[in-house]
Amino acid sequence: MRIRRYLMCEPRHFDVTYSINPWMEPAKPTDARLALMQWERLRSLLVGLGHHVDLMAPLPGLPDMVFAANGATMVDGKVLSARFRHPQRRAEGPAYLEWFRRQGFETREARFVNEGEGDLLDTGARLLAGTGFRTDRRAHAEAAAFLGRPVLSLKLVDPRFYHLDTALAVLDHERIMYYPAAFSAASQAVLRRHYPDAILAEAADAEIFGLNAVSDGRHVLLPPQTTRLAGALTAAGFVPIGVDLSELLKAGGGAKCCTLELRERPATPEPAKE
Ligand code: ARG
Repeated sequence: MRIRRYLMCEPRHFDVTYSINPWMEPAKPTDARLALMQWERLRSLLVGLGHHVDLMAPLPGLPDMVFAANGATMVDGKVLSARFRHPQRRAEGPAYLEWFRRQGFETREARFVNEGEGDLLDTGARLLAGTGFRTDRRAHAEAAAFLGRPVLSLKLVDPRFYHLDTALAVLDHERIMYYPAAFSAASQAVLRRHYPDAILAEAADAEIFGLNAVSDGRHVLLPPQTTRLAGALTAAGFVPIGVDLSELLKAGGGAKCCTLELRERPATPEPAKE
């Protein structure tokens, strides 16, 4: 396990006031206090594991801003801004970009619609890139060129799994877990070819956002209600940790959605001594 750095955004203005995915029902009440408590538990779990969490100030009028994963994509110290599909979230892109600029990171404004790490997942070796509902397929090549990684495009076909990170999680450099039925037949074949040993999730675990998990390479934070998935992770040598984000699920988000990994340039190795 490597110490990681994450960006998170407190759900101080969280609510479900519009519907841009099948989980969001504005008529259903949300509990702001509970959302804050659940989010705080996620933050303190990450800190307790030894990771660093940076905070982005939440802005009023942007109830989905807690989903920091969508705010940008950072690989080797380079940051590609997000460009949101729906007008309700559009202002989040520049707000996150501004945060990264102020930190002094190398940034690039995206030309095509991409929803950050919601659809662009870095494995360290390549980018797994989702399309079908939010991120424009053309953004995949744009991200690959700027971030300097080969890209594997994956097509999502079930509207409940509208972002790649709701259907697939990167566990470490080589291993992933995913829910096959969320992908087109062609993308399922691509995944099977590249990841023959992946952990496959069943509908019951995928439907409670079991794949919207945060992995540091050893610990995997996911909903406490997953059954088979937690067992499969343990069998594969990971340590599953349950974290309940039921309030945020009302907006269609889970643990991964709430964290944006700040991937700095890997330190250049010390020259070998004679
Ligand atoms: N309500 C948000 C949306 O539909 C949820 C985003 C969840 N984030 C994620 N990385 N999947 O855009």
